[in-house]
Amino acid sequence: MPADGARPPQSLLARERERLASYRFGLRVSERGVVSSIGDGVVWIDGLPSAQMDEVVAFANGSEAVVFHLARDRLGAIILRDAPGLMAGVEATLPGHGLGIGVSDDLIGRVIDPLGAALDGRAAPEIPGRHPLDALSPPITRRDFVDEPLYTGNKVIDTMVPIGKGQRQLLIGDNGTGKSALALDAVLNQAGRNVRCVYVMIGQKRSSVARTIATLRDRGALAYTCVVVAEATAPPGMKYLAPFAGCAVAEQWMQAGGDTLVVYDDLTTHARAYRELSLLLQRPPGREAYPGDIFYLHARLLERSTRLNAAAGGGSMTALPIVETEQGEIAAYIPTNLISITDGQIYLDTRLFARGVLPAIDISRSVSRIGGKAQEEAIKKEAGRLKLDYLQFLELEVFTRFGAKLEASVEERIRRGRLLREVLKQEQLDPQRPAAHMAWLVAFNDGLLNGMEGDALRDALARLRQGAESSSLTVTSGRERWARSVRNWLEG
Ligand SMILES: Nc1ncnc2c1ncn2[C@@H]1O[C@H](COP(=O)(O)OP(=O)(O)OP(=O)(O)O)[C@@H](O)[C@H]1O
Ligand SMILES: [Mg+2]
Repeated sequence: MPADGARPPQSLLARERERLASYRFGLRVSERGVVSSIGDGVVWIDGLPSAQMDEVVAFANGSEAVVFHLARDRLGAIILRDAPGLMAGVEATLPGHGLGIGVSDDLIGRVIDPLGAALDGRAAPEIPGRHPLDALSPPITRRDFVDEPLYTGNKVIDTMVPIGKGQRQLLIGDNGTGKSALALDAVLNQAGRNVRCVYVMIGQKRSSVARTIATLRDRGALAYTCVVVAEATAPPGMKYLAPFAGCAVAEQWMQAGGDTLVVYDDLTTHARAYRELSLLLQRPPGREAYPGDIFYLHARLLERSTRLNAAAGGGSMTALPIVETEQGEIAAYIPTNLISITDGQIYLDTRLFARGVLPAIDISRSVSRIGGKAQEEAIKKEAGRLKLDYLQFLELEVFTRFGAKLEASVEERIRRGRLLREVLKQEQLDPQRPAAHMAWLVAFNDGLLNGMEGDALRDALARLRQGAESSSLTVTSGRERWARSVRNWLEG
Protein backbone atom coordinates (compact mmCIF):
# COMPACT_ATOMS: atom_id res chain seq x y z
CA MET A 1 0.00 0.00 0.00
CA PRO A 2 1.55 3.35 -0.98
CA ALA A 3 2.03 5.73 1.90
CA ASP A 4 0.57 8.76 0.14
CA GLY A 5 -1.82 9.81 2.84
CA ALA A 6 -2.86 12.98 0.99
CA ARG A 7 -4.71 11.24 -1.81
CA PRO A 8 -7.81 9.19 -1.08
CA PRO A 9 -7.23 5.43 -1.57
CA GLN A 10 -8.04 4.34 -5.11
CA SER A 11 -10.60 1.66 -5.51
CA LEU A 12 -9.46 -1.64 -6.97
CA LEU A 13 -11.57 -1.09 -10.06
CA ALA A 14 -10.09 2.33 -10.79
CA ARG A 15 -6.59 0.99 -10.38
CA GLU A 16 -7.23 -1.90 -12.73
CA ARG A 17 -8.68 0.50 -15.31
CA GLU A 18 -5.59 2.61 -15.12
CA ARG A 19 -3.36 -0.44 -15.51
CA LEU A 20 -5.30 -1.59 -18.57
CA ALA A 21 -5.12 1.86 -20.12
CA SER A 22 -1.36 1.96 -19.86
CA TYR A 23 -0.87 -1.64 -21.02
CA ARG A 24 1.26 -2.02 -24.16
CA PHE A 25 0.87 -5.04 -26.36
CA GLY A 26 4.08 -6.50 -27.70
CA LEU A 27 6.11 -9.64 -28.15
CA ARG A 28 8.00 -10.78 -25.08
CA VAL A 29 10.49 -13.60 -25.53
CA SER A 30 11.39 -15.65 -22.51
CA GLU A 31 12.84 -19.11 -22.29
CA ARG A 32 11.16 -21.84 -20.33
CA GLY A 33 12.81 -24.99 -19.14
CA VAL A 34 11.39 -28.04 -17.44
CA VAL A 35 12.94 -30.15 -14.68
CA SER A 36 13.57 -33.62 -16.07
CA SER A 37 15.13 -35.25 -13.03
CA ILE A 38 16.30 -34.34 -9.58
CA GLY A 39 18.25 -35.87 -6.73
CA ASP A 40 21.32 -35.59 -4.44
CA GLY A 41 21.34 -31.82 -4.56
CA VAL A 42 21.46 -31.58 -8.35
CA VAL A 43 18.75 -31.05 -10.93
CA TRP A 44 18.64 -31.74 -14.68
CA ILE A 45 16.70 -29.32 -16.81
CA ASP A 46 15.51 -29.61 -20.42
CA GLY A 47 15.38 -26.39 -22.39
CA LEU A 48 16.90 -23.01 -21.48
CA PRO A 49 19.27 -23.03 -24.48
CA SER A 50 20.83 -19.66 -23.66
CA ALA A 51 21.85 -20.62 -20.11
CA GLN A 52 25.44 -19.87 -19.17
CA MET A 53 27.70 -21.42 -16.59
CA ASP A 54 27.21 -20.07 -13.05
CA GLU A 55 23.91 -18.46 -13.98
CA VAL A 56 21.05 -18.61 -11.50
CA VAL A 57 17.99 -20.71 -12.39
CA ALA A 58 14.65 -19.96 -10.72
CA PHE A 59 11.92 -22.58 -10.40
CA ALA A 60 8.18 -22.08 -10.34
CA ASN A 61 7.97 -23.43 -6.79
CA GLY A 62 10.41 -20.86 -5.44
CA SER A 63 13.53 -23.03 -5.44
CA GLU A 64 16.82 -21.76 -6.82
CA ALA A 65 19.77 -23.44 -8.46
CA VAL A 66 22.94 -22.45 -10.25
CA VAL A 67 24.04 -23.78 -13.64
CA PHE A 68 27.00 -26.10 -13.20
CA HIS A 69 27.09 -28.26 -16.30
CA LEU A 70 26.03 -27.60 -19.89
CA ALA A 71 25.30 -30.55 -22.14
CA ARG A 72 24.08 -30.43 -25.74
CA ASP A 73 20.38 -30.76 -25.02
CA ARG A 74 20.04 -30.26 -21.28
CA LEU A 75 21.77 -28.66 -18.37
CA GLY A 76 22.73 -29.68 -14.88
CA ALA A 77 22.34 -27.28 -11.97
CA ILE A 78 23.17 -27.34 -8.28
CA ILE A 79 20.26 -26.74 -5.94
CA LEU A 80 20.85 -23.80 -3.63
CA ARG A 81 17.40 -23.25 -2.12
CA ASP A 82 15.17 -26.27 -1.97
CA ALA A 83 11.55 -25.15 -1.52
CA PRO A 84 8.89 -27.86 -1.18
CA GLY A 85 7.48 -29.18 -4.43
CA LEU A 86 10.60 -29.22 -6.57
CA MET A 87 10.05 -32.24 -8.79
CA ALA A 88 10.15 -33.37 -12.40
CA GLY A 89 7.92 -31.20 -14.59
CA VAL A 90 8.40 -27.98 -12.61
CA GLU A 91 9.08 -24.97 -14.81
CA ALA A 92 12.48 -23.26 -14.76
CA THR A 93 13.48 -19.78 -15.94
CA LEU A 94 16.62 -17.67 -16.06
CA PRO A 95 16.30 -14.43 -14.07
CA GLY A 96 19.42 -13.24 -15.89
CA HIS A 97 22.07 -12.90 -13.24
CA GLY A 98 24.85 -14.87 -11.62
CA LEU A 99 25.39 -15.51 -7.95
CA GLY A 100 26.22 -12.55 -5.78
CA ILE A 101 26.27 -11.50 -2.18
CA GLY A 102 25.56 -8.11 -0.65
CA VAL A 103 28.66 -6.84 1.13
CA SER A 104 28.98 -3.93 3.51
CA ASP A 105 30.29 -3.21 6.98
CA ASP A 106 27.07 -4.72 8.28
CA LEU A 107 28.62 -8.14 7.70
CA ILE A 108 31.19 -7.53 10.42
CA GLY A 109 30.39 -9.67 13.42
CA ARG A 110 27.87 -11.75 11.46
CA VAL A 111 27.66 -15.44 10.69
CA ILE A 112 26.25 -16.04 7.23
CA ASP A 113 25.77 -18.85 4.75
CA PRO A 114 27.36 -18.66 1.28
CA LEU A 115 24.30 -16.88 -0.12
CA GLY A 116 24.37 -14.21 2.55
CA ALA A 117 21.52 -15.52 4.73
CA ALA A 118 21.99 -15.04 8.48
CA LEU A 119 22.95 -18.10 10.54
CA ASP A 120 23.35 -16.32 13.84
CA GLY A 121 19.68 -16.01 14.66
CA ARG A 122 19.64 -12.27 13.98
CA ALA A 123 17.80 -10.44 11.24
CA ALA A 124 19.11 -11.04 7.73
CA PRO A 125 21.71 -8.46 6.74
CA GLU A 126 19.86 -6.05 4.41
CA ILE A 127 22.53 -4.90 2.00
CA PRO A 128 21.86 -3.29 -1.36
CA GLY A 129 23.89 -4.39 -4.38
CA ARG A 130 25.59 -7.68 -5.05
CA HIS A 131 29.22 -8.59 -5.25
CA PRO A 132 29.67 -11.53 -7.64
CA LEU A 133 30.83 -14.77 -6.02
CA ASP A 134 32.91 -15.55 -9.05
CA ALA A 135 34.86 -12.56 -10.34
CA LEU A 136 37.96 -12.07 -12.39
CA SER A 137 41.13 -11.55 -10.39
CA PRO A 138 42.63 -8.05 -10.61
CA PRO A 139 44.88 -7.54 -13.65
CA ILE A 140 48.62 -7.18 -13.16
CA THR A 141 48.42 -3.42 -13.74
CA ARG A 142 46.32 -2.99 -10.61
CA ARG A 143 48.59 -5.07 -8.40
CA ASP A 144 51.47 -4.03 -6.21
CA PHE A 145 54.35 -5.83 -4.51
CA VAL A 146 53.78 -7.45 -1.16
CA ASP A 147 55.85 -5.23 1.11
CA GLU A 148 54.03 -4.92 4.41
CA PRO A 149 54.11 -7.66 7.04
CA LEU A 150 50.98 -9.41 8.22
CA TYR A 151 51.67 -10.61 11.74
CA THR A 152 50.09 -13.89 12.78
CA GLY A 153 51.32 -13.64 16.36
CA ASN A 154 53.06 -16.98 15.96
CA LYS A 155 56.75 -17.03 16.87
CA VAL A 156 57.84 -19.43 14.14
CA ILE A 157 55.80 -17.87 11.35
CA ASP A 158 56.50 -14.21 12.09
CA THR A 159 60.24 -14.74 12.35
CA MET A 160 61.14 -17.63 10.06
CA VAL A 161 58.27 -18.03 7.59
CA PRO A 162 56.97 -14.45 7.45
CA ILE A 163 53.75 -13.52 5.67
CA GLY A 164 53.08 -10.24 3.88
CA LYS A 165 49.80 -8.47 3.20
CA GLY A 166 48.36 -9.87 -0.02
CA GLN A 167 50.21 -13.16 0.23
CA ARG A 168 48.62 -16.60 -0.08
CA GLN A 169 50.12 -18.94 2.48
CA LEU A 170 48.97 -22.54 2.70
CA LEU A 171 48.52 -24.29 6.05
CA ILE A 172 49.06 -27.96 5.35
CA GLY A 173 49.14 -31.06 7.54
CA ASP A 174 47.35 -34.21 8.67
CA ASN A 175 44.13 -33.93 10.59
CA GLY A 176 44.40 -32.77 14.18
CA THR A 177 47.83 -31.17 13.84
CA GLY A 178 46.73 -27.65 14.74
CA LYS A 179 46.00 -26.08 11.34
CA SER A 180 42.77 -24.40 12.41
CA ALA A 181 44.36 -23.32 15.68
CA LEU A 182 47.09 -21.45 13.78
CA ALA A 183 44.60 -19.79 11.44
CA LEU A 184 42.41 -18.77 14.37
CA ASP A 185 45.40 -17.27 16.16
CA ALA A 186 46.23 -15.27 13.05
CA VAL A 187 42.68 -13.86 13.08
CA LEU A 188 42.80 -13.09 16.82
CA ASN A 189 46.10 -11.31 16.29
CA GLN A 190 44.51 -8.77 13.93
CA ALA A 191 42.77 -7.05 16.85
CA GLY A 192 43.48 -3.33 16.70
CA ARG A 193 45.46 -3.67 13.46
CA ASN A 194 42.78 -2.50 11.08
CA VAL A 195 42.65 -5.77 9.17
CA ARG A 196 39.20 -7.17 8.53
CA CYS A 197 38.93 -10.92 8.63
CA VAL A 198 36.71 -13.50 6.97
CA TYR A 199 36.72 -17.02 8.41
CA VAL A 200 35.23 -19.56 6.00
CA MET A 201 34.28 -22.94 7.45
CA ILE A 202 33.59 -25.65 4.91
CA GLY A 203 32.01 -28.96 5.82
CA GLN A 204 32.89 -28.84 9.51
CA LYS A 205 30.86 -30.45 12.29
CA ARG A 206 28.39 -28.16 13.96
CA SER A 207 30.26 -28.53 17.25
CA SER A 208 33.55 -27.28 15.77
CA VAL A 209 31.74 -24.44 13.99
CA ALA A 210 30.12 -23.42 17.27
CA ARG A 211 33.44 -23.66 19.11
CA THR A 212 35.27 -21.48 16.60
CA ILE A 213 32.54 -18.84 16.64
CA ALA A 214 32.46 -18.86 20.44
CA THR A 215 36.24 -18.37 20.54
CA LEU A 216 36.05 -15.50 18.09
CA ARG A 217 33.29 -13.90 20.13
CA ASP A 218 34.92 -14.42 23.53
CA ARG A 219 38.19 -12.96 22.30
CA GLY A 220 36.53 -9.92 20.80
CA ALA A 221 37.48 -10.93 17.25
CA LEU A 222 33.93 -10.70 15.94
CA ALA A 223 34.37 -6.95 16.14
CA TYR A 224 36.29 -7.15 12.85
CA THR A 225 35.40 -10.59 11.48
CA CYS A 226 32.70 -12.10 9.29
CA VAL A 227 32.15 -15.87 9.44
CA VAL A 228 30.91 -17.79 6.39
CA VAL A 229 29.68 -21.29 7.15
CA ALA A 230 28.59 -24.29 5.09
CA GLU A 231 28.60 -27.01 7.71
CA ALA A 232 28.96 -30.75 7.20
CA THR A 233 25.22 -31.30 6.71
CA ALA A 234 24.87 -28.48 4.16
CA PRO A 235 24.21 -29.51 0.54
CA PRO A 236 27.41 -29.98 -1.50
CA GLY A 237 26.51 -26.89 -3.55
CA MET A 238 26.78 -24.70 -0.45
CA LYS A 239 30.16 -26.18 0.48
CA TYR A 240 31.34 -25.56 -3.05
CA LEU A 241 30.24 -21.91 -2.92
CA ALA A 242 31.47 -21.11 0.60
CA PRO A 243 35.06 -20.06 -0.20
CA PHE A 244 33.85 -17.96 -3.13
CA ALA A 245 31.40 -16.19 -0.83
CA GLY A 246 34.13 -15.51 1.73
CA CYS A 247 36.41 -14.28 -1.04
CA ALA A 248 33.69 -11.97 -2.36
CA VAL A 249 33.27 -10.37 1.06
CA ALA A 250 37.01 -9.81 1.51
CA GLU A 251 37.33 -8.68 -2.09
CA GLN A 252 34.77 -5.93 -1.71
CA TRP A 253 36.50 -4.68 1.44
CA MET A 254 39.85 -4.85 -0.34
CA GLN A 255 38.49 -2.87 -3.27
CA ALA A 256 37.32 -0.23 -0.82
CA GLY A 257 40.96 0.17 0.19
CA GLY A 258 41.07 -2.01 3.30
CA ASP A 259 43.43 -4.75 4.40
CA THR A 260 41.76 -8.14 4.78
CA LEU A 261 42.62 -11.64 5.88
CA VAL A 262 40.59 -14.62 4.72
CA VAL A 263 40.88 -18.17 6.05
CA TYR A 264 39.57 -21.09 3.97
CA ASP A 265 39.10 -23.98 6.42
CA ASP A 266 39.52 -26.21 4.52
CA LEU A 267 40.00 -26.64 0.78
CA THR A 268 40.29 -30.44 0.93
CA THR A 269 36.64 -30.58 1.93
CA HIS A 270 35.90 -28.00 -0.73
CA ALA A 271 37.57 -30.13 -3.40
CA ARG A 272 35.57 -33.15 -2.23
CA ALA A 273 32.29 -31.22 -2.51
CA TYR A 274 33.27 -30.15 -6.01
CA ARG A 275 34.15 -33.73 -6.92
CA GLU A 276 30.81 -34.95 -5.56
CA LEU A 277 28.90 -32.42 -7.66
CA SER A 278 30.97 -33.15 -10.74
CA LEU A 279 30.42 -36.88 -10.49
CA LEU A 280 26.70 -36.41 -9.87
CA LEU A 281 26.54 -34.32 -13.02
CA GLN A 282 28.44 -36.97 -14.93
CA ARG A 283 31.54 -34.97 -15.70
CA PRO A 284 34.47 -37.19 -16.61
CA PRO A 285 36.59 -37.96 -13.54
CA GLY A 286 40.35 -37.49 -13.68
CA ARG A 287 43.11 -38.12 -11.16
CA GLU A 288 41.75 -39.35 -7.78
CA ALA A 289 38.32 -39.00 -9.43
CA TYR A 290 38.55 -35.21 -9.25
CA PRO A 291 37.31 -33.37 -12.35
CA GLY A 292 40.03 -31.99 -14.61
CA ASP A 293 39.33 -28.37 -13.74
CA ILE A 294 39.89 -28.65 -9.98
CA PHE A 295 43.24 -26.87 -10.36
CA TYR A 296 41.54 -24.06 -12.23
CA LEU A 297 38.89 -23.84 -9.52
CA HIS A 298 41.40 -23.27 -6.72
CA ALA A 299 43.68 -21.06 -8.81
CA ARG A 300 40.69 -18.88 -9.71
CA LEU A 301 39.84 -18.52 -6.04
CA LEU A 302 43.33 -17.80 -4.76
CA GLU A 303 44.35 -15.48 -7.58
CA ARG A 304 41.81 -13.02 -6.24
CA SER A 305 43.99 -12.55 -3.18
CA THR A 306 46.46 -9.80 -3.85
CA ARG A 307 47.82 -6.46 -2.88
CA LEU A 308 46.30 -3.63 -4.94
CA ASN A 309 48.44 -0.67 -5.92
CA ALA A 310 47.84 2.88 -4.73
CA ALA A 311 45.87 3.81 -7.85
CA ALA A 312 43.52 0.92 -7.16
CA GLY A 313 43.04 1.92 -3.54
CA GLY A 314 45.94 0.06 -1.94
CA GLY A 315 43.81 -2.62 -0.30
CA SER A 316 44.97 -6.17 0.24
CA MET A 317 43.58 -9.65 0.68
CA THR A 318 45.82 -12.11 2.47
CA ALA A 319 44.67 -15.72 2.21
CA LEU A 320 45.33 -18.62 4.53
CA PRO A 321 43.93 -21.66 2.74
CA ILE A 322 44.06 -24.88 4.76
CA VAL A 323 44.55 -28.30 3.20
CA GLU A 324 44.52 -31.64 4.93
CA THR A 325 46.97 -34.39 4.02
CA GLU A 326 46.76 -38.12 4.69
CA GLN A 327 49.76 -39.77 6.34
CA GLY A 328 51.79 -36.65 5.67
CA GLU A 329 51.55 -37.19 1.92
CA ILE A 330 52.07 -33.76 0.41
CA ALA A 331 52.44 -35.21 -3.09
CA ALA A 332 48.72 -36.09 -3.30
CA TYR A 333 46.73 -34.31 -5.99
CA ILE A 334 44.99 -31.47 -4.10
CA PRO A 335 47.97 -30.64 -1.80
CA THR A 336 50.43 -30.39 -4.73
CA ASN A 337 47.99 -28.24 -6.65
CA LEU A 338 47.62 -25.86 -3.75
CA ILE A 339 51.34 -25.79 -3.01
CA SER A 340 51.96 -24.67 -6.56
CA ILE A 341 49.22 -22.05 -6.50
CA THR A 342 50.18 -20.42 -3.19
CA ASP A 343 53.19 -18.29 -2.24
CA GLY A 344 54.47 -20.73 0.34
CA GLN A 345 53.31 -23.22 2.90
CA ILE A 346 53.42 -23.90 6.60
CA TYR A 347 53.70 -27.61 7.17
CA LEU A 348 52.36 -29.17 10.36
CA ASP A 349 53.75 -32.53 11.32
CA THR A 350 52.05 -35.31 13.31
CA ARG A 351 55.33 -36.58 14.77
CA LEU A 352 56.20 -33.16 16.16
CA PHE A 353 52.66 -32.90 17.51
CA ALA A 354 53.01 -36.30 19.22
CA ARG A 355 56.34 -35.22 20.75
CA GLY A 356 54.69 -32.15 22.22
CA VAL A 357 56.47 -29.64 19.96
CA LEU A 358 53.55 -27.23 19.68
CA PRO A 359 52.74 -25.59 17.37
CA ALA A 360 53.84 -28.61 15.33
CA ILE A 361 55.37 -26.57 12.50
CA ASP A 362 58.01 -28.49 10.55
CA ILE A 363 60.40 -25.65 9.79
CA SER A 364 62.38 -27.69 7.28
CA ARG A 365 59.34 -28.10 5.06
CA SER A 366 57.84 -24.63 5.55
CA VAL A 367 58.67 -21.78 3.21
CA SER A 368 57.44 -18.31 2.44
CA ARG A 369 58.33 -17.24 -1.06
CA ILE A 370 57.56 -13.55 -0.77
CA GLY A 371 57.03 -12.70 2.90
CA GLY A 372 60.74 -12.11 3.54
CA LYS A 373 60.56 -8.97 1.43
CA ALA A 374 57.80 -7.67 3.64
CA GLN A 375 59.47 -8.45 6.93
CA GLU A 376 60.47 -5.56 9.17
CA GLU A 377 64.20 -4.93 8.95
CA ALA A 378 64.97 -5.34 12.64
CA ILE A 379 63.18 -8.69 12.93
CA LYS A 380 64.70 -9.85 9.69
CA LYS A 381 68.18 -9.06 10.99
CA GLU A 382 67.66 -10.91 14.25
CA ALA A 383 65.96 -13.90 12.64
CA GLY A 384 68.25 -13.89 9.62
CA ARG A 385 70.36 -16.93 10.35
CA LEU A 386 67.86 -18.54 12.70
CA LYS A 387 66.23 -20.76 10.11
CA LEU A 388 69.44 -21.96 8.50
CA ASP A 389 71.05 -22.66 11.87
CA TYR A 390 67.98 -24.54 12.96
CA LEU A 391 67.92 -26.69 9.84
CA GLN A 392 71.61 -27.55 10.30
CA PHE A 393 70.90 -28.42 13.91
CA LEU A 394 68.15 -30.84 12.85
CA GLU A 395 70.64 -32.69 10.66
CA LEU A 396 73.32 -32.70 13.34
CA GLU A 397 70.87 -33.93 15.93
CA VAL A 398 70.44 -37.14 13.99
CA PHE A 399 74.10 -37.97 14.65
CA THR A 400 73.68 -37.71 18.37
CA ARG A 401 71.35 -40.67 18.22
CA PHE A 402 74.30 -42.93 17.50
CA GLY A 403 76.11 -41.77 20.63
CA ALA A 404 79.08 -40.60 18.57
CA LYS A 405 81.74 -38.42 20.15
CA LEU A 406 81.16 -34.89 18.87
CA GLU A 407 83.36 -31.87 18.56
CA ALA A 408 82.74 -29.14 21.07
CA SER A 409 81.54 -26.70 18.42
CA VAL A 410 79.04 -29.23 17.11
CA GLU A 411 77.79 -29.91 20.60
CA GLU A 412 77.34 -26.20 21.11
CA ARG A 413 75.26 -25.93 17.98
CA ILE A 414 73.09 -28.79 19.07
CA ARG A 415 72.60 -27.20 22.46
CA ARG A 416 71.58 -23.97 20.76
CA GLY A 417 69.17 -25.75 18.43
CA ARG A 418 67.52 -27.57 21.32
CA LEU A 419 67.17 -24.32 23.21
CA LEU A 420 65.59 -22.65 20.19
CA ARG A 421 63.11 -25.50 19.85
CA GLU A 422 61.98 -24.87 23.43
CA VAL A 423 61.86 -21.10 22.90
CA LEU A 424 59.60 -21.51 19.87
CA LYS A 425 56.95 -23.52 21.68
CA GLN A 426 53.73 -21.56 22.02
CA GLU A 427 50.28 -22.22 23.43
CA GLN A 428 47.30 -21.79 21.18
CA LEU A 429 45.02 -18.73 21.57
CA ASP A 430 48.03 -16.75 22.69
CA PRO A 431 49.33 -14.66 19.77
CA GLN A 432 52.30 -12.41 20.48
CA ARG A 433 52.98 -8.84 19.44
CA PRO A 434 56.00 -8.12 17.22
CA ALA A 435 57.72 -6.38 20.13
CA ALA A 436 57.49 -9.62 22.12
CA HIS A 437 59.09 -11.48 19.21
CA MET A 438 61.86 -8.94 19.22
CA ALA A 439 62.52 -9.51 22.92
CA TRP A 440 63.07 -13.26 22.71
CA LEU A 441 65.03 -12.92 19.48
CA VAL A 442 67.48 -10.48 21.02
CA ALA A 443 67.77 -12.48 24.23
CA PHE A 444 68.38 -15.70 22.31
CA ASN A 445 70.91 -14.17 19.94
CA ASP A 446 72.81 -12.54 22.81
CA GLY A 447 73.03 -15.90 24.55
CA LEU A 448 71.06 -14.69 27.55
CA LEU A 449 68.88 -17.80 27.56
CA ASN A 450 71.79 -20.25 27.34
CA GLY A 451 71.70 -23.08 29.81
CA MET A 452 68.06 -22.48 30.73
CA GLU A 453 65.43 -25.15 30.53
CA GLY A 454 62.05 -26.12 31.92
CA ASP A 455 60.48 -23.68 34.34
CA ALA A 456 63.48 -21.33 34.34
CA LEU A 457 63.19 -20.86 30.58
CA ARG A 458 59.41 -20.44 30.68
CA ASP A 459 59.81 -17.89 33.42
CA ALA A 460 62.47 -15.96 31.48
CA LEU A 461 60.31 -15.93 28.33
CA ALA A 462 57.32 -14.71 30.29
CA ARG A 463 59.39 -11.89 31.75
CA LEU A 464 60.70 -10.91 28.32
CA ARG A 465 57.22 -10.84 26.92
CA GLN A 466 55.79 -8.84 29.77
CA GLY A 467 58.69 -6.41 29.56
CA ALA A 468 58.22 -5.93 25.84
CA GLU A 469 54.48 -5.50 26.07
CA SER A 470 54.59 -2.98 28.89
CA SER A 471 57.48 -0.95 27.49
CA SER A 472 57.33 1.73 24.84
CA LEU A 473 59.95 -0.02 22.70
CA THR A 474 58.94 -0.90 19.17
CA VAL A 475 60.57 -3.19 16.67
CA THR A 476 62.42 -0.20 15.22
CA SER A 477 63.80 1.08 18.52
CA GLY A 478 67.37 0.09 17.73
CA ARG A 479 69.46 -2.94 18.74
CA GLU A 480 71.32 -1.19 21.58
CA ARG A 481 68.16 -0.20 23.43
CA TRP A 482 66.66 -3.61 22.94
CA ALA A 483 69.75 -5.39 24.21
CA ARG A 484 69.86 -3.21 27.32
CA SER A 485 66.15 -3.55 28.06
CA VAL A 486 66.17 -7.29 27.54
CA ARG A 487 69.00 -7.67 30.05
CA ASN A 488 67.10 -5.54 32.54
CA TRP A 489 63.91 -7.54 32.17
CA LEU A 490 65.75 -10.81 32.67
CA GLU A 491 67.61 -9.58 35.73
CA GLY A 492 64.79 -7.57 37.29
N1 LIG B 1 49.91 -24.62 20.03
C1 LIG B 1 49.11 -25.54 20.59
N2 LIG B 1 49.25 -25.85 21.88
C2 LIG B 1 48.45 -26.77 22.45
N3 LIG B 1 47.47 -27.43 21.82
C3 LIG B 1 47.27 -27.17 20.52
C4 LIG B 1 48.07 -26.21 19.83
N4 LIG B 1 47.65 -26.14 18.55
C5 LIG B 1 46.64 -27.03 18.45
N5 LIG B 1 46.40 -27.65 19.63
C6 LIG B 1 45.37 -28.67 19.87
O1 LIG B 1 45.46 -29.65 18.89
C7 LIG B 1 44.19 -30.14 18.51
C8 LIG B 1 44.03 -30.07 17.01
O2 LIG B 1 44.03 -28.73 16.61
P1 LIG B 1 43.17 -28.24 15.37
O3 LIG B 1 41.76 -28.61 15.51
O4 LIG B 1 43.51 -26.82 15.18
O5 LIG B 1 43.85 -29.12 14.24
P2 LIG B 1 43.41 -29.24 12.72
O6 LIG B 1 44.65 -29.59 12.00
O7 LIG B 1 42.66 -28.05 12.29
O8 LIG B 1 42.46 -30.49 12.79
P3 LIG B 1 41.33 -30.94 11.73
O9 LIG B 1 42.06 -31.66 10.66
O10 LIG B 1 40.50 -31.86 12.55
O11 LIG B 1 40.63 -29.73 11.28
C9 LIG B 1 43.17 -29.31 19.24
O12 LIG B 1 42.69 -30.04 20.33
C10 LIG B 1 43.97 -28.12 19.71
O13 LIG B 1 43.46 -27.66 20.92
MG1 LIG C 1 40.76 -27.82 11.50
